[in-house]
Amino acid sequence: MASSLSQTVFFSILVLLSLHQACAKKTYLHFYLHEILSGPNATVLTVVNPSNNTTSLTFGAIAVFDDMLREGPDDNSTLIGRAQGLVGAVGRDGSLETMINFVFTEGKYNGSTLALYGRVVLGVTIERPVIGGTGMFRMATGYSLAKPIVASATKLVYEFDVYVWNKEMKDN
Ligand SMILES: *[C@@H]1O[C@H](CO)[C@@H](O)[C@H](O)[C@H]1NC(C)=O
Ligand SMILES: *[C@@H]1O[C@H](CO)[C@@H](O)[C@H](O)[C@H]1NC(C)=O
Ligand SMILES: *[C@@H]1O[C@H](CO)[C@@H](O)[C@H](O)[C@H]1NC(C)=O
Ligand SMILES: *[C@@H]1O[C@H](CO)[C@@H](O)[C@H](O)[C@H]1NC(C)=O
Ligand SMILES: *[C@@H]1O[C@H](CO)[C@@H](O)[C@H](O)[C@H]1NC(C)=O
Repeated sequence: MASSLSQTVFFSILVLLSLHQACAKKTYLHFYLHEILSGPNATVLTVVNPSNNTTSLTFGAIAVFDDMLREGPDDNSTLIGRAQGLVGAVGRDGSLETMINFVFTEGKYNGSTLALYGRVVLGVTIERPVIGGTGMFRMATGYSLAKPIVASATKLVYEFDVYVWNKEMKDN
């Protein structure tokens, strides 16, 4: 008796879990972030730098950025949005803290945003949590992987793979 009750409870939980998963929509996004480091069209600006070093974010530095999101790695590739945010040099080990909104301006995600937050160690693939979103990405959760593919004195390009789950909002 006890075992059949616990089996019933177990299977009910399984059914609830699979219903829950069925309500979460998965979206995969792939694009390239382009950051121009200097010149009239620079997309990043250091606003605080305790060491007066304009070429590197040393401990305590803060920068703002408004980078391009493009379909591909080339400068001429279609612009699909912007990555607007803040980066702070919070680690004595050189690590950074980033707060980013991806603001999409093309296609079905036009007008929707995704919010990312997380730690960055330069030079390696960066994993950061997706902590929310607006529009088509309301209630979003997920993660992003960013791989540096261009790192020159004048520009940075990162390839992004973003995995997003949207929960459908139901009252009960
Ligand atoms: C800056 O952007 C403007 C407008 O897109 C463009 O005409 C100009 O050539 C760019 N300047 C540089 C140095 O890239
Ligand atoms: C940064 O530059 C300012 C203004 O030139 C100067 O007063 C300050 O001492 C410099 N700070 C450091 C850490 O070099
Ligand atoms: C600024 O930082 C870069 C990279 O860490 C370093 O190579 C350079 O020597 C620094 N410049 C000054 C003036 O401290
Ligand atoms: C972008 O387009 C311009 C003009 O058509 C061309 O000169 C340039 O080589 C292109 N750049 C890239 C990276 O494809
Ligand atoms: C994106 O949405 C804005 C605001 O609704 C609109 O003005 C713009 O034309 C749209 N862009 C595209 C490419 O659909």
